[in-house]
Amino acid sequence: MSNLGLVRHAFSPPARPPLAETEMRVLEAQYCSYGDTVHYSEPAKIFARCEGSFIYDLENRPFLDLQMWYSAVNFGYANPRLNEALKRQIDTLPQVASQYLHREKIELAAAIGRDAEQKFGYKGRVHFNVGGSQAIEDSLKLVRNASRGKSLVFAFEGGYHGRTLAASAITSSYRYRRRYGHFGDRAQFIPFPYCFRCPYGKKREDCGLYCVDQFARLFDTEYCGVFDPQVGEAEYAAFYIEPIQGTGGYVIPPPGYFEKLAAVLEARRILLVDDEIQMGFYRAGKLWSIEQFNVRPDIIVFGKALTNGLNPLSGVWAREALINPEVFAPGSTHSTFNANPLGTAVALETLRMLEEQDYEQMTAQKGAYFLSGLRELKRRYRVIGDVDGIGMALRIEICEPSDSFTPAKAIVDRIVEEALKGDLEVAGKTYGLVLDIGGYYKNVITLAPALTISFDEIDLALQLLDRLLHRVAPD
Ligand SMILES: Cc1ncc(COP(=O)(O)O)c(C=O)c1O
Repeated sequence: MSNLGLVRHAFSPPARPPLAETEMRVLEAQYCSYGDTVHYSEPAKIFARCEGSFIYDLENRPFLDLQMWYSAVNFGYANPRLNEALKRQIDTLPQVASQYLHREKIELAAAIGRDAEQKFGYKGRVHFNVGGSQAIEDSLKLVRNASRGKSLVFAFEGGYHGRTLAASAITSSYRYRRRYGHFGDRAQFIPFPYCFRCPYGKKREDCGLYCVDQFARLFDTEYCGVFDPQVGEAEYAAFYIEPIQGTGGYVIPPPGYFEKLAAVLEARRILLVDDEIQMGFYRAGKLWSIEQFNVRPDIIVFGKALTNGLNPLSGVWAREALINPEVFAPGSTHSTFNANPLGTAVALETLRMLEEQDYEQMTAQKGAYFLSGLRELKRRYRVIGDVDGIGMALRIEICEPSDSFTPAKAIVDRIVEEALKGDLEVAGKTYGLVLDIGGYYKNVITLAPALTISFDEIDLALQLLDRLLHRVAPD
């Protein structure tokens, strides 16, 4: 007999009413670690149900969600087709140990592999795990294996690759390493082409991609510290990129940037690892955001929206030369739940859905419509320094109204807090908004609406943003 004190369900009498909010808060304060979360607002909001683009709180107030679980729920909350795939799998083969095979895993790997082969011209293989950070760790093993154990990589300032020990070692924020130190892998962080705040003080129109020249300069002589010209070998095995920075503030690089960078990497035999965990699955208008840039990655890492957030599943695609069983031995990585049948069944249905509808056109149209509304808001509010977007990854950079440039974190915090009150009125109805903050200065509203959002809902989002800006920073 256990003594867990759990509330019993109605079907196991005697039933008790569900926990009241005050009771939940007391229990959370006593029993929940805060190490796995961040309370951006106090008290943290409690949600009770969700559907489509909306999530509802305990009072059943609707919140239009413009961040969709950090882009894990690209296909809308409780997507009926994907939920159905999960339910079907529960009734057939919900569990099987990963040493055995199941149809969904094989079909899913083949679908991702064939698509990559067609797009990038390389045969490759797919390898599964359960979370983005874990898949990043797996990719680091592939990189180390291919480079005879090198643990140094390049990554971007503003880059985010997760919070396990190795993933946080190549994530730019020292904040995530300060208390925990390192476990071997290290990154040298290179400035991302953040043209609104160019780290070199250049202008996008005539910079000639000076930033890539600065990176290429590292290989000019051995005295720059990363390359031995005598043998043509770099000390750095790979460059980890997010083609569009996610947590860094949905920063979109200028045309030609990645082509020029990839040429430098290829000449120095440095692998290009493409982290698509946040921007993949049409967030940025293509299956993989790197397809926007005419560049061929050696490794792709993905997660999040693969299962629409229904079941943890992530993965790595790599070129055959890096991942074939001769070089990357069986059991090189393992997790009990990797390639789990529930996750792979939903993921397979996700890919079927993507094949049946023109997501490229849909995300381009909706994204352009949303962005034109954001541009209109920028014309009206000096607190907006920049808006930009690619596909359905959109950004609003909030700045001091005095110059529309100095980052204004305090104003963003207020905007997000007000949005969570759930009292914004449009056409006689009240709503809240779920917004996420990103950016180097934590002053960017990163918008990742459901790709299934309707044009009417985009209009509603723009009206709600207008109400918020009017309330917080009217001039
Ligand atoms: C680009 C990117 N890489 C890696 C991760 C880590 O993924 P996870 O949170 O599933 O470990 C994230 C999560 O936000 C991400 O956005």
